[in-house]
Amino acid sequence: MNNNKILNLFNNEPSSKIPIWFLRQAGRHIPEYFSIRSKSKNFIDFCLNKDLIVESTRLPLKYYDIDAAIVFSDILMIPWAMNRDVKFVQGVGPVMNPMIPDETNILNNINIVEHLKPLEDALTILKSSLSKNICLIGFAGAPWTLACYMIDGGSSKDFIETRKAIWGSYNWFNKLIKTLIFYVVDILEMQAKAGADVLMIFDSWSHMIPSVFWNDFAINPTKEIIKNLRDRKIFNPIIGFPFKGGNSIIDYSYESGVDCISLDWTVDLPWAIKNINSEIIIQGNLDPAALISNNLNLYKNVDFILSCIADKRFIFNVGHGLTPECKIENVMAVIKQVKNFRR
Ligand code: CP3
Repeated sequence: MNNNKILNLFNNEPSSKIPIWFLRQAGRHIPEYFSIRSKSKNFIDFCLNKDLIVESTRLPLKYYDIDAAIVFSDILMIPWAMNRDVKFVQGVGPVMNPMIPDETNILNNINIVEHLKPLEDALTILKSSLSKNICLIGFAGAPWTLACYMIDGGSSKDFIETRKAIWGSYNWFNKLIKTLIFYVVDILEMQAKAGADVLMIFDSWSHMIPSVFWNDFAINPTKEIIKNLRDRKIFNPIIGFPFKGGNSIIDYSYESGVDCISLDWTVDLPWAIKNINSEIIIQGNLDPAALISNNLNLYKNVDFILSCIADKRFIFNVGHGLTPECKIENVMAVIKQVKNFRR
C-alpha cells in the first residue's frame, strides 16, 4: 500500500496520522529561495522556467517532513497569459494594467495551457521524481480573486474598482467571471493530467464580495469549475480556500462541491467543525504569525487544534501563507508535534 497520507485521507482510508503541509511553504522564509529566484530576471520568468519551478517546489521538502509539495507558480499567471502586463514589484506586490469595465475587451480565446507549458513540464518531472508518499498539489486562483487583481490593477485595501464594476457593469463583469472560469478549468485540467494529485482553488479576496453576491461570485463559479472538471473526466480531489469568507463558508462547504475546505486563521475551529458539511475534509486554521517567534502559545494552539479534530478528517496547515519572517525551527517543531500526535 502507498503511504500518501493526503490521498489516503481523500480516499477515506482510516489512519492514526494527521497529514501536514503549509501554504506558501516554498517562499521567502527559506534562505535558498533567494538564490533560486535570482537565477531569473523577474518573478514571471521564474514561474516560466521549468527547472526553477521543480527546484523551488522541492525546496521545502529538504527541510520539512511534510506530506505535500505545492507546485511553484502564481495565481496571477492567468492574468499574465491574458496580456494584462503583470509585474511583481519589490516592496509593492503584483501590479498590472487595470481593466476598465465596459471598455476593456475581455480576451476569451487564449490557450492558457500553451502559455504555461513550463508549468506542465515541471509537473511531469515532479510527478516522476517525487516520492509517491508526497501529495503533489496543483492550484489556481478563483475567478473572483483574479478579477479583483485585474480590475483594481494590483492589491487594494477594499477593491473598490472591482466592487463598482459588479454594480455598475454587471454584464461585463459577469462575462469576465465566465471567461476566468473557463481558463481556471483549463489550467487545473492541465495540472491534473501532468501529475498533480490534488487541486486547490485560492479565493484570497472572497471577503471583498458584497454579501448579496456571495453565491454568484464565490460559490457558483467554484461549483461550475468543479462540474466542468468532472465533465472532462478529472476526478482529483479539490481543496477550496474561501479566505475570510465568514459565515458564508458554511454554504460554500455544502454547495460548492469542494472535497476539502481550507480554513483561514480567523475561523473559530469548534464552530467550523459544528457547522461545516461533515462530508468534507477540513484543512488549516493555524495563524502563520504564530510561527514567527518561538512561543508557548504556538504549541498550546497546535494542541488545541489537534484536540478539536482528533476524530475528524483533517489536514494540518496554516490559515494563510507562511510569511518571510517565519522561522524554520518553529515550523519543524510544529511538524514534530503533529507527527507525534496519536488519535
Ligand atoms: O509555496 C507555495 O505556496 C507555492 C507557490 C505560490 C506562490 N503564490 C508563490 C509566490 C502560491 C500557491 C501562490 C498563490 C498566490 N499568489 C495567492 C493565493 C494565496 C494567498 O496568498 O492568498 C495570491 C493572492 C497570489 C498573488 C501574489 N503573488 C501576491 C499578492 C504576491 C506578493 C505578495 C507576497 O505575498 O509576496 C505574490 C508573489 C509571490 N508568489 C511570492 C511567492 C513565493 C513572493 C515573490 C518574491 O518576492 O519572491
